[in-house]
Amino acid sequence: MEILKVHNLCKTYTQGEIKVEALKNVSFSLEKGEFAAVVGESGSGKSTLLNCIGALDVPTSGQILLDGQNLFSMKEEERTIFRRRNIGFVFQTFQLVSELNVEQNLIFPLLLDYRKPDPEAVEELLKLLGLSDRRRHLPGQLSGGQQQRVAIGRALITRPKLILADEPTGNLDSKNSQDVIDLLTEASRRYQQTILMITHNRNLTACADRVFRVSDGILKDLGGTVNETLS
Ligand SMILES: Nc1ncnc2c1ncn2[C@@H]1O[C@H](COP(=O)(O)OP(=O)(O)OP(=O)(O)O)[C@@H](O)[C@H]1O
Ligand SMILES: [Mg+2]
Repeated sequence: MEILKVHNLCKTYTQGEIKVEALKNVSFSLEKGEFAAVVGESGSGKSTLLNCIGALDVPTSGQILLDGQNLFSMKEEERTIFRRRNIGFVFQTFQLVSELNVEQNLIFPLLLDYRKPDPEAVEELLKLLGLSDRRRHLPGQLSGGQQQRVAIGRALITRPKLILADEPTGNLDSKNSQDVIDLLTEASRRYQQTILMITHNRNLTACADRVFRVSDGILKDLGGTVNETLS
């Protein structure tokens, strides 16, 4: 079942006289439960792609359909609510609320949407994250890897159709990076969660079902294995 469809996506940034074509006719789709990685040089357009798909940025042209719904034909308010319910974000810098403890950070997206957390689901998630004994800790009292695991839990709690992760392991050492990737892999298997993740670390693409490479705004599908094709 197709969850995400990106069709002829273009994004051009204009700064005075200078035009940057950050995305050039990008088209691809993702199935339910697929774990896809995006690689590419710095400045190639990876974050622009994720930001457009997550409706954090507005494409210049083209379409993005999530579960058949065209993101940019919605009114802004409708799009904000749709995003909150259907897309989870994980960033390099974790972006947890520093005054809230682990459990409160986890359930925050539900509260934003006036929904009541299911205690059993919260327990299950804490266990999956390996943070059952850290539930009352504040983000400042956690390691980087633990903080990113909370951020992944926060993205998972609403069971969104799609999780977008922009270099989720960028601030982590190799052990914590692998834990984060294992967690995302487990989420895609256990919850049939569709994930699109940018990474600079080619070792971390090994768990992905598919790998895309962005090069100067053009996206290419590299298929399932990339180690020979990545330089
Ligand atoms: N808000 C903006 N205004 C103008 N140009 C921008 C803007 N955001 C990005 N760009 C340009 O678009 C291009 C793609 O940027 P993007 O952030 O998508 O790259 P990236 O592949 O994520 O790079 P990195 O690996 O360094 O994070 C770059 O040339 C960048 O300078
Ligand atoms: Mg980037």
